[in-house]
Amino acid sequence: MNRRYRKTVIAANWKMNKLPGECKPFIQQLKDKAAEAKWCDVVLCVPFTHIASAVKAARGTRIAIGAQNCHYAQNGAFTGEVSCRMLSELGVKYVIIGHSERRQYFGETDTDVNRKLHAALEEGLRPIVCLGEKLEVKETGAALDFIRCQLKAALKDITVQQLRKIVIAYEPVWAIGTGKIATPQQADEAGEAIRDTLRALYGARAARGVSILYGGSLNESTAGGMFSMPDVDGGLIGGASLEAASLISIIDAADQ
Ligand code: PGA
Repeated sequence: MNRRYRKTVIAANWKMNKLPGECKPFIQQLKDKAAEAKWCDVVLCVPFTHIASAVKAARGTRIAIGAQNCHYAQNGAFTGEVSCRMLSELGVKYVIIGHSERRQYFGETDTDVNRKLHAALEEGLRPIVCLGEKLEVKETGAALDFIRCQLKAALKDITVQQLRKIVIAYEPVWAIGTGKIATPQQADEAGEAIRDTLRALYGARAARGVSILYGGSLNESTAGGMFSMPDVDGGLIGGASLEAASLISIIDAADQ
């Protein structure tokens, strides 16, 4: 991480886990640590059904509530979908966009990701845009090219002012939920490739201000090594974010 230029962000991704009633006790356990953490923003991305309880429990704390997906339209005939305007009215501050599980199981394309990104920014939400290669791409040696392409497609027609609101998460698909974490060097190399691409698109000043997170089997024992890398500015954490104690240890590691 490089605190001179950018924020450290620890974002928990609960995925489809826990029940709405579990938000309050969880936030109670987390809130003192979030208040103490001088350097890092703490975000809890919960299922849609949990948002109202999570926002209520997080009021007056330094924990921001995020959603895990959104639709790109403001409203309309999209049965079962949730718009960014709805999220923002509930008090949501962040939204994960383009998570690999959305791409893999729900057919989300780079074009969808770009449309959602525009929609989120329009409603004042901070998008956490996910990028990452599958194992077969990694094995061909083309991982960095692949994520550069994903990034460019996601950022189509995004302005430099809008870029300031965006957080990027590098999440190699082979590392998500598998226990096979990338090495800090691999994560940093990807972070550097992402930042180089941002520099080419938006200039050095804008590029150095973007927080780039690592996600994929990150836990309390691997967080410290990961966060010591210059182009890893925090984490997007799935499995290890379901226990308040492990999330607290990860925040500690990020706040050193
Ligand atoms: P994981 O998930 O930490 O359980 O691997 C990370 C993510 O998918 O965001």
